[in-house]
Amino acid sequence: MNILQQIAAAKSYIESKNAPKSTIAVVLGSGLGGFTNELNIQLEIPYGDIPHFPVSTVEGHSGKLIFGTINGKNVVAMAGRFHYYEGYTAEEVVFPIRVLHAIGVTNLLLSNAAGGVNPNFAIGELMIIKDHISFSIVNPLLGKNIEALGPRFPDMSEPYDKTLIQKVKAIAEDNNIRVMDGVYYGVTGPTFETRAEYKMIHALGADAVGMSTVQEVIAARHMGLTVFAMSVITDLGIRDEENIITHQEVLEAANAAEPKFTLLFTELIKAL
Ligand code: HPA
Repeated sequence: MNILQQIAAAKSYIESKNAPKSTIAVVLGSGLGGFTNELNIQLEIPYGDIPHFPVSTVEGHSGKLIFGTINGKNVVAMAGRFHYYEGYTAEEVVFPIRVLHAIGVTNLLLSNAAGGVNPNFAIGELMIIKDHISFSIVNPLLGKNIEALGPRFPDMSEPYDKTLIQKVKAIAEDNNIRVMDGVYYGVTGPTFETRAEYKMIHALGADAVGMSTVQEVIAARHMGLTVFAMSVITDLGIRDEENIITHQEVLEAANAAEPKFTLLFTELIKAL
């Protein structure tokens, strides 16, 4: 079975469950699952039930598609995502994004936990991703191009939609929430970076670093989706003092920032 057939099989399964049609999808990063409390949930489909979906293995990612409404607007949330470091191929990592597109999603809102390398950042801060650097990840479009999904050489001059960025900045201001914007540097993980690597990443022009999102954004832009993404800064790479970083502290910092994140995403969805 080729990828298009796999996407079609996943789509048919989701449609057979009478999933409400949604043009908006939200991908929930580590520790940000609390967003689903805002959803008036109509249907949940565990990833394991959807043909050809990979199954999530990371602590803090529950692994299901959640269909619901926010203020009467249909939304589908990915609670749990797939990371390259789990052993999936780049193509597997982006499979759900291709399925979301197939079922009618046009706006993709992504979130993640990321390490700050901008010295002005603090733990718990939110960063709107205005651009990314993808050279340390595996491009999910490698191989024969799937013309039915998008062009061979997709433009990447503006992966993150400027109008949505402006909307979120305005929402943040109205609600007295501090948000930064910055460049996200994608890595494969699973190791956190060495001190020298965090310094290098900053020197190369990035403000934060993380192990997700970039492959999903590339696949989404290939298909012409409108993309917005935000990081919660959960640790700081470039501190001089002792600086051991653990997954536990990443989850705790993301959980602590989750109400601010949820407010911004909820208000953005209302405004779409
Ligand atoms: N590096 C990479 N990925 C991350 C980090 C980090 O410091 N924090 C959360 N995800």
